[in-house]
Amino acid sequence: MKKAFVVGHPIKHSRSPLIHGHWLKTHGLEGSYERIDVAPADFPAFLKTFAAQGFAGGNVTIPHKEAAFLGVDRRTERAERLKAVNTLWVENGVLWGDNTDVVGFMAHLDQSLGTGWEQDVDTALVIGAGGAARAVVAGLQERPIRRILIANRTASKAAELVRDLEGPGARLEALPWDDLSSAVEAAGLVVNTTSLGMTGQPPLVLNLANARADAIVADIVYVPLTTPLLAAAKERNLRTVDGLGMLLHQAVPGFARWFGVTPQVTPSLRALIVANIEG
Ligand code: ATR
Repeated sequence: MKKAFVVGHPIKHSRSPLIHGHWLKTHGLEGSYERIDVAPADFPAFLKTFAAQGFAGGNVTIPHKEAAFLGVDRRTERAERLKAVNTLWVENGVLWGDNTDVVGFMAHLDQSLGTGWEQDVDTALVIGAGGAARAVVAGLQERPIRRILIANRTASKAAELVRDLEGPGARLEALPWDDLSSAVEAAGLVVNTTSLGMTGQPPLVLNLANARADAIVADIVYVPLTTPLLAAAKERNLRTVDGLGMLLHQAVPGFARWFGVTPQVTPSLRALIVANIEG
């Protein structure tokens, strides 16, 4: 029987066990996926011992993504680029780390909007400059988008993101936070990667009155599923992409590695997680 985990601190709110549990059941696989709470001081030891405890690998969440990056033997190109690891597995005794948030976000956009959606996007606006913003920017850089604007409350973090991720492909530009509403007018794609709009947090206040009629508005917040930003975009009849899909799609590569079957993000999986969020 194969075993995998999600490790974090705290970990009790993670929805990953529901996702992987659903896939284990639908594929009729004998396996387990469990939550493990590990404090930061114990994380390096956990990395060295999980294989001996019979685990094939697992997911890494807050606050261990950077420590996982530092602690693995080898990293995929995407993990290297983001300096963060959210998926672990052992291959021939070598501990590997990947960052699947990048493919998670992009696969979700492709599934929601249809492939080729980026053809009409000249400029993307990414709001926020944390770990999630890095995954979103890295994903968008793999597509033929000309310009990516990054606006963050703390300007130095947006500048740092631009420095770290600059490369071939789209030009990255850090924007002052106060220019957010005017930047919306130029953007074919707007993505919120901050925690604004999450239940218990203030909403992200963005004036969409002058947004392009063909603009796409995406949020990575998924509690609630329809954030105030997405509600405002729907009111203007803009295309919207909610945050739940990124969570579901980022789980696919890990499951495939640990259990040997590539699972699908289906309406029934989505419904299961929506019921959990809304329940
Ligand atoms: P994650 O890994 O989810 O991206 P993070 O690295 O802590 O989490 O980043 C959180 C992001 O949300 C940051 O861009 C943060 O802005 P700052 O860099 O200025 O802290 C943003 N954020 C959180 N609360 C915010 C608020 N009240 N107003 C504006 N931005 C906020």
